Amino acid sequence: MRAMQIPFDHPLLLRIVDDVAERGWSQQNIFLPESLTRELALECRKRAAEGELAPASVGRGALQEVREGIRGDHIQWLEPGQTEPCDRYLALMDSLRQAINRGLFLGLEDYESHFALYPPGAFYLKHVDRFRDDDKRMLSAVLYLNDGWLPEHGGHLRMYLDGGVEYDIQPTGGCLVVFLSGDIPHEVLPSTRDRLSLTGWFRRRGNQPFEL
Ligand code: OGA
Ligand code: MN
Repeated sequence: MRAMQIPFDHPLLLRIVDDVAERGWSQQNIFLPESLTRELALECRKRAAEGELAPASVGRGALQEVREGIRGDHIQWLEPGQTEPCDRYLALMDSLRQAINRGLFLGLEDYESHFALYPPGAFYLKHVDRFRDDDKRMLSAVLYLNDGWLPEHGGHLRMYLDGGVEYDIQPTGGCLVVFLSGDIPHEVLPSTRDRLSLTGWFRRRGNQPFEL
């Protein structure tokens, strides 16, 4: 079954577009319906139990390496057509891509995303998402899948905003955070329980020389 498309002028999507235009990031605490959040969390747990998640690496291409002292999450990249909840998620993110292109002319062409599971104690040190040698990543999107998260569980996303402001977001299920990949340094603080998410990047086509 093909997943339903949400219209790109849905008010929730327009709010995200406005936030990104105004300040470079957006937080939507109630982005996904609870039922889809639950199905995606189950899917993440199932993949983890089947040994499909692998330690995430840092860097790109030949310089990629696993460094738990920098990031300790386990990930698996999504492909379209795997499961119905994943396809619904991808369809939703594609509607957001279209909304952003209409509102901000960013020319976003695709979306790459992975499940991420941070076991207790795992973290991701302060970083920006855009690679030094590859500027295709324009916008980062993190969707949290955790049921009943409490402040004492930790695991906050800490964003370093303009003017030295630090802003923490709790990884509560259904919450979506979107931010400009090259502009906002951020980190993931350690938690006391498994921390589940779907994290992805909207990309534009890379710069290419004229073919003469
Ligand atoms: C990342 C990242 C943030 C989060 O995967 O690059 O910064 O809150 N994730 O999981
Ligand atoms: Mn990041």
